[in-house]
This record gives sequence, structure tokens and C-alpha cells, in this order.
Amino acid sequence: MKTPIVSFLNSYQDRTPVRMHMPGHKGVGIFGFEGMDLTEINGADELFAAEGIIKESEQNASSLFGCPTYYSTQGSTLCIQTMCTILCQDAKSKGKKPKILAGRNAHRSFIHAAALLDFDVAWLYGNNDYLSCKISPETLEKEIVENHPTAVYLTNPDYLGNLLDITALASICKKYNVLLAIDNAHGAYLRFLKDSLHPIDLGADLCCDSAHKTLPVLTGGAYLHLSDSLNQVWGNDVKHFMEYFSSTSPSYLIMASLDAANDVLDRTFRSSLSECIRYVDSLKNKLVQRGYTILSGEPMKITISTKDYGYTGNEIAYFLMDRDIYPEFYDSDYIVFMPSPYNTNADFERLEECLCKIQRKSVVFNLFPKLEHVKKVMNIREALFAPSMKVDVSKSLGQICSSVTVSCPPAILPVIPGEVISACAIEVMKYYGIESVRVVK
Ligand SMILES: Cc1ncc(COP(=O)(O)O)c(C=O)c1O
Repeated sequence: MKTPIVSFLNSYQDRTPVRMHMPGHKGVGIFGFEGMDLTEINGADELFAAEGIIKESEQNASSLFGCPTYYSTQGSTLCIQTMCTILCQDAKSKGKKPKILAGRNAHRSFIHAAALLDFDVAWLYGNNDYLSCKISPETLEKEIVENHPTAVYLTNPDYLGNLLDITALASICKKYNVLLAIDNAHGAYLRFLKDSLHPIDLGADLCCDSAHKTLPVLTGGAYLHLSDSLNQVWGNDVKHFMEYFSSTSPSYLIMASLDAANDVLDRTFRSSLSECIRYVDSLKNKLVQRGYTILSGEPMKITISTKDYGYTGNEIAYFLMDRDIYPEFYDSDYIVFMPSPYNTNADFERLEECLCKIQRKSVVFNLFPKLEHVKKVMNIREALFAPSMKVDVSKSLGQICSSVTVSCPPAILPVIPGEVISACAIEVMKYYGIESVRVVK
């Protein structure tokens, strides 16, 4: 597959041009890659008004994902802000006030988007525990009927690798004519499985993928995808909406990385992914034989429920990090590894060897705080932008939260801006080692 952005940047460098334009490093510097870090000069196209090499590259990505695809150089965060703008504009175009029914395990960027765009949120708590937000089609249908949302917003996969039944959830959304947006930040690779599990293929209307999390792409590279039918309505406005939140200097290094990845995704990624999944499966099996409890879910995450093996996730993580093995995430209950086809066999062997060195101990019983629904007294925007101050968590009882305190794991947010901090929320924050919280003055 052609890589027009990479080709342009290479040919520009080769011509040893006189760079009387930004950036100030002029293509030379300590890292060696500065030559490819460009600005919107003649021929380099513009991300938010793409007509040349960027448009061509985005079209290549669209053909790989089988749906309209837009680049972001500011991660899924920018895509989530844009998705929420589309959801709000779509509701308004139908004469409705935007109200989004969202899984309570939403990433902080969704809460910030709610504050910036000032839309109403009704929360879906799923199966009533703090560690996942397993939303069944039945629960979704009941909540749609009760809340009359204009759109549904779900996170899939979540940080621990849990997957929802997107096909069934999408058909409920279609039945009630509400749009389904998916935060697929952790699942760009799902499109390249033997049978795609990518949200758009399963019936979602729009989704974001952090290319940088699971594909060979520089940090910050992400995609916004729309279904063909939604793109027919909003395709001309997507870039305009993206600009509301974006820097006017998108990184050419990140765009070049997304461009280069297209060729890899086209030629070799499917086969290297399926080979890697075999390694991951084999490692998971060996760890289970050794006595570890591995969560089921997406194929490329290895999530160990560590207390069943006699340790906190933190203890296992520090044991590994002392041996120069770095996990993606760890807390009291879990440790999460995110391998990719770019890990070597030796990486898998080292991880296995170290995990198998740890002697199993008796189960650590979980005293995990109970999930409680908190009382909302202000809307998210009012609370987030209100004068606020940081207080010690132990002194925050009864105060109104003004910031996103716990974002990704644990799955469920104990308290968000505008909600009253309860004894239970304090217990959860303490459990996760959070010492201070911002409250409305
Ligand atoms: C579930 C989820 N959504 C969204 C994001 C934001 O993604 P990005 O860092 O690409 O902006 C993250 C980041 O960790 C995440 O875990």
C-alpha cells in the first residue's frame, strides 16, 4: 500500500531544502528524526482541510478498516470529543436536547467532553460491581426506555480487556433509533482478527481507536471511524468539529506513523497478529497451569487477578519491574500486560519465567468497597468549571466533587464532577491510594 505522507517527507528531506518555515529545529537535532517533523508547507496538505497526501492516506486507512476513517494526532481523547460533538449535533438536528446514556466506566475524556459541550449524561452501572461495567442488552433496553437518551456511549474493550456483546447492544440501539458510540481506544487491532470484532463491523455508528495502544504507531496516533450511513450525514462536518478541540499544529511525525502503519496493516499485520495470539494463548495456558487466575476477554490482553495467587497486583508488578519487565497497569487486585506482535519470543519467555518464579500463596481475601450510586446536585459543566480547591480525601465527605478523580481502572468512577462525595466514594478513593480530591468551593 502507498504511504504518501512518508514519501513526501522523505523526498522533502532528500532535497536538502532551505527551511524558512516552522518548526524552529530546521530538521536537525539530537533525536535524528527532526527532518521528518514538518509543518503545513506547500504539498504537505492540512489535516483539517485534507485534499492531498493526508486525504489519500486517510482513504487508505478507510479501506483497511472498511469504513470512513479520520486521523487524530491527539489520541482517542480528540476523537471522543469529536464523537460527542457529533452525538450532540445529531440530537439537535432532530430537535432534541442531547442526552447520552453512558457506561459508568467512561474514560475521563468523556467527562471533560460532557463539561465542554454541556450535554446531559445518564449513567449505566452494568452489573453493579466496581471492576467491570458489564452491560447486557436487557439492561440497556430497560435504561433506554426509562431515560429516553439521544445516544448511547460504551467503552469496549475496557482497561482489563472485558468485551461487551456489541452486536446485541447495537441492535437494541437501532430498535430505539439512538446512535451507538464506542470508545474502542484499546481495540484498534480487533479489526485485524480472523473474524473482526471491530465495533463498526459489529453495528456501532461511530467509534474511536487509539492506534498507538495496539498498533505499530507513535503515541498520539488515533482514528475516528463512522459507519457509512452516519458519514453520509456528518462526513462533511467531522474535521470542522475536530478543530474545536485540536491544536492547529498536528504532528507530522504522528501522521507519518499512521501512514506507515497502513502498509504494515495491509501486508503483514494480520498474520503477525494471529501468530502473536498463539503465543499469548500459550502463555495464558501455562500461567493457568501454574495456578494463576487469568480473566477472559480480548485476546491480546493478559489480565491476572492476583489475589487468587496470594499477592496484590502491586506486589507482582514490583517483582517484575525489579527484573526490568514493565506491565501496562497494576493495582491492588490486577496486573495487566499488553503485548503486541512486536514483542519478541524472548520477551514472552522472560515474562513467563519471572511469573513462574513467584511462589503461590494462600488467597488474599478481597475487602473491596461496595458499589453505590451517588447523588448528583450540579451538572458536570457547572461543577468542573466552578471555583474549586484540593482537599484531603478524608475531609471531603458531603462536598461536591469538581474533578475526575479515578479515571480508567477501576472500571467504574466512584464520583464525578457535580456529585456529592459519599462515605463509600471515600472508601474507594482510599482503596486506590487517592489522597486528595478537588471539590467545589
Ligand atoms: C478506555 C480509554 N479511552 C480513551 C483513552 C484516551 O486515549 P488516548 O490516550 O489515545 O487519548 C484511554 C487512555 O488510556 C482509555 O484507556
